[in-house]
Amino acid sequence: MELIKIVPIKPSEVEALQLLSKQTFTETFAIHNSEEDMYHYLTNNLSLAILQNELFNPDSKFYFALEGDKKIGYLKLNLKEAQSDVKDPDSLEIERIYVLNTYFGKKVGQVLYQKALDIAKELKLKYIWLGVWEKNERAIQFYKKNGFVEFDQHVFKLGNDEQTDLLMRLFI
Ligand SMILES: CC(C)(COP(=O)(O)OP(=O)(O)OC[C@H]1O[C@@H](n2cnc3c(N)ncnc32)[C@H](O)[C@@H]1OP(=O)(O)O)[C@@H](O)C(=O)NCCC(=O)NCCS
Repeated sequence: MELIKIVPIKPSEVEALQLLSKQTFTETFAIHNSEEDMYHYLTNNLSLAILQNELFNPDSKFYFALEGDKKIGYLKLNLKEAQSDVKDPDSLEIERIYVLNTYFGKKVGQVLYQKALDIAKELKLKYIWLGVWEKNERAIQFYKKNGFVEFDQHVFKLGNDEQTDLLMRLFI
C-alpha cells in the first residue's frame, strides 16, 4: 500500500465528500438499520447543503485520507460551539472518522486519528472526545486501543430510531 496522505477538504470538494460520506455510512450501518431510517439520515444529515455549511464553519475541520489520488477515508473534527455535545473550549470532538471498508485494518484510521491528535496538541487542548454507537465493536476497540475511556452516554437519532452512543474521552 502507498503512503497515506491527509489533506484538508476544500468547500469546492463537497460533492466528493458527500459521495464518500454516503458510501462509508451505508457500508457501516445499512445492515443494522431499516431502509427508511438510513434514507432519512443520508438525505437529511448528508445533504450537499448541510455538508457545505459544515465545510464553511471555521470551528469544523475536514480531511481526506488519500492513497495516490483515491479518497479512501475522511475525518471531521469540531472545536468550540461546533461540537455536537460537551462544547468545552478545551476539547476537540472527533465527530466522524470513516474508512472505506475495503481498506479496513490497514492503519488508515490510525493515520486519520493521528491528525486529530496532532491538532489537539497544537491547540493545547485538554482532551479529545467522541460518540460511538454502543454496538460498533470495531470502532470501540479502535478507540480503546488508542487509550479512550467511556465517560458518559447520549442518545443518537438515526431516522426514527433512538440509539445509545457511548461517549469516550482521552486526556492529552
Ligand atoms: C474504526 C475505523 C475508522 C478504524 O480504521 P482502520 O483503518 O480499520 O483502523 P486500523 O487499521 O488503524 O485499526 C484497526 C483496529 O480496529 C479494531 N478491529 C479490527 N477488526 C475488529 C473486529 N473484528 N472486532 C473488534 N475490533 C476490531 C482493532 O482495534 C484494530 O486494531 P489492531 O489491528 O491493532 O488490532 C474503521 O474501521 C472504520 O471506518 N469503520 C467504519 C466507520 C466507523 O465505525 N467509524 C467510527 C464511527 S464512531
